Amino acid sequence: MRDVVVTADSKYSRPDQASGLRQAMSPHGLIPMPKVQVVAVSSGKGGVGKTNVVVNLAVASARQGRKVLVMDADLALGNVDIVLGVTPKYTIEDVLSGQQRLSQVLTPGPAGIHILPATSGGQQFSHLTYEQQLHLQSAFLQLPDPPELLCIDCAAGISANVLYFSLVAHETLVVVTPDPSSLTDAYALVKVLSTRYHLRSFRLLINRAKNVQEGKEIFRKFSLVTDRFLTLTLDYVGCIPLDDYVNMAVTQQRAVCDLYPRAPSSRAFHTLASSVHQWASDPSWRGGFQLFGPAAMAATQSVMEG
Ligand SMILES: Nc1ncnc2c1ncn2[C@@H]1O[C@H](COP(=O)(O)OP(=O)(O)OP(=O)(O)O)[C@@H](O)[C@H]1O
Ligand SMILES: [Mg+2]
Repeated sequence: MRDVVVTADSKYSRPDQASGLRQAMSPHGLIPMPKVQVVAVSSGKGGVGKTNVVVNLAVASARQGRKVLVMDADLALGNVDIVLGVTPKYTIEDVLSGQQRLSQVLTPGPAGIHILPATSGGQQFSHLTYEQQLHLQSAFLQLPDPPELLCIDCAAGISANVLYFSLVAHETLVVVTPDPSSLTDAYALVKVLSTRYHLRSFRLLINRAKNVQEGKEIFRKFSLVTDRFLTLTLDYVGCIPLDDYVNMAVTQQRAVCDLYPRAPSSRAFHTLASSVHQWASDPSWRGGFQLFGPAAMAATQSVMEG
């Protein structure tokens, strides 16, 4: 479905700085924009399960009939391709260097999803420049067959790229585990995004929860702290149980939703996929790649320039 979008999302407190680019691409100042939903998955702490959340959210959403693209935004240490057992011919590096079109780099994955792979071991794109961000945005805008859902697997930490991808998404999904250090690191991430970049809306997903009660309790404790010290809205998305089937699937380089669809975690990922779809189902909701680079570009640029 296509929709003509002319405004920035209300998530941003600043004007849409990408409007000039869009207008430049259209002789009439308006171009048809795909109604894509962009979800960034981040965490602060490493190893909490972001990549597993992204690939399984993607597979579950595809099984529910959505057209899904996974972007590996861990541009220096990407591993989505390894987790899914695919061997990409090209990576995002080829797009950013102008060697390949984005559509040629997209690699097919399970359940009909596509993957925009990253390189592993390269430092070149660990801090995207403003020009590279614009290049990426332009590549997405020119995709001939855009997805309905773009899931972005962010790197761990609070790097400029993590801030950038969190800011350009419609939804910032923060993954935590019962490990207290994952909570402190997630707090540090939402603090930076809310206080320095005015991002006001976050969704919290508890991974590796022993049970639903533990998930709710972690959310309650976390939101007590954010309510007290930060100005933001935090929504509880739910929890993914600690599940050995996840590790078994990882070992076989498959998504658990694909390999063990009846596993407890797979069921939870299907519930998550339904929730994510629900967020975009309001008739007034406006998706689009126009979010790929508005206020966020200037914000992360200032981080990179110190
Ligand atoms: N719900 C779960 N139950 C059991 N094990 C899990 C679960 N989620 C993730 N894991 C395990 O945790 C490990 C780390 O997961 P993953 O690679 O997705 O984390 P990450 O946050 O992407 O890490 P990084 O920050 O390094 O990118 C994997 O080996 C995976 O098998
Ligand atoms: Mg990862």
